[in-house]
Amino acid sequence: MATEKSVSGFSKMSKRKKLRWLVENFFKDPEKVMRELMSFWHSSEEQQRILDGFSENTLSNYPMPFGVAPNFIINGKTYCVPMVIEESSVVAAASSAAKFWMNRGGFKAKVLSTLKVGQVHFYWKGKLQKLESVFDLLKTALLQNTAPITANMEQRGGGITAIELLDFSREEANYYQLKVSFETCDSMGANFINSVLESFAETLSNFVATHPVFDDDEKDIEIIMSILSNFTPECLVRAWVECPIEDLGSFEGGIDAEAFAQKFCRAIRIAWLDPYRATTHNKGIFNGIDAVVIATGNDFRAIEACGHTYASRSGQYRSLSKCTIENGIFKFCLDIPLALGTVGGLTNLHPIARCSLEMLGNPSAEELMQIIATTGLAQNFAAVKSLVTTGIQKGHMKMHLLNILNHLKATESEIEKAEAYFEDRQISFNSVRIFINQCRNENSAV
Ligand code: MEV
Repeated sequence: MATEKSVSGFSKMSKRKKLRWLVENFFKDPEKVMRELMSFWHSSEEQQRILDGFSENTLSNYPMPFGVAPNFIINGKTYCVPMVIEESSVVAAASSAAKFWMNRGGFKAKVLSTLKVGQVHFYWKGKLQKLESVFDLLKTALLQNTAPITANMEQRGGGITAIELLDFSREEANYYQLKVSFETCDSMGANFINSVLESFAETLSNFVATHPVFDDDEKDIEIIMSILSNFTPECLVRAWVECPIEDLGSFEGGIDAEAFAQKFCRAIRIAWLDPYRATTHNKGIFNGIDAVVIATGNDFRAIEACGHTYASRSGQYRSLSKCTIENGIFKFCLDIPLALGTVGGLTNLHPIARCSLEMLGNPSAEELMQIIATTGLAQNFAAVKSLVTTGIQKGHMKMHLLNILNHLKATESEIEKAEAYFEDRQISFNSVRIFINQCRNENSAV
């Protein structure tokens, strides 16, 4: 049903025409909005063309802060980690955790596995034993027919590593699956995997339609869909920190190392036990992870979806990180599946993603997995450290104060005065506005 605000042929319009249509139909002050959105167009037409190419119906750019967290020592190598995030305190927290562990042996990380997964889902009324009896032959055909797609990947050391036939017919009549495992080296591999799967689906249909072992009423396969799975529990990386408890030092509020270690471990245990806490706890981990995933041009929706499924692998949603105290050693560890790429996709197209990767020394996908898992662990450490010592509001409100001051267009000297004034006072938008108005009144009275 077309309405006065619906449109046809929108995607074919020029960018200016699209913008014009939008502002005239949905805004009170079209000219102002048009100017505002256009003010974010890139000054270089070439750069803008590249950005527009990432999506459809693009009208402008949506700027997000691009920052860095320096002093990350991972496996003895120092990194300055790029982060794209709009939440204040996240970069500051990551930086402070990096600095904390810099003096305690740094972070350690290792990749545990790198397999990706794809599936061909199909419905079929034939006899499973027959398909199983010719499955080796089918596999040969599947591999032969995808040789042109896999040749390049194989040259880089990757390709298809396993093909399984899974029987779901007890849960759902006639439902089966080809589950395929892949090694995609430095690429995230989504396009590669999906191309292979679509070719597999075609080969599977032809094979069953033509192989003599199948009776006439078994020759019809209904391919439901062929798509990679974003659940990659075997594309797993571990990051951890450890030190003797006494090396943790002392903490704000007069908390000593032993008390901190115990309290910290309990906080992690609570996130293991309780899904309400686990969700917030893991959100803190993803504050760090997503920020680097976005900065390096990777797919943060895939990473999040996978991480949350992994967090539920026991049947209950739980903390992704773990903490132990054994023989006087405090150890904090994060295992997380991260399917990342350092070639292909946005990684080489987006100018800032390219810059982020260069900043990290143009890492392989495996090295990037270690960097990103470490950032998640650091973020989690910083958040839980604050929670069990000072509480997070102190740090958050400090950053929030700056946002309010910017909103009120405070000058540098007003910012300085406000920061001193609110050092030990409650911060709210209203209290800051009153303070700034007072400063301005005093100044105008002089
Ligand atoms: C806020 O973005 C993240 C935290 O809530 C994480 C946590 O509670 O662990 C501070």
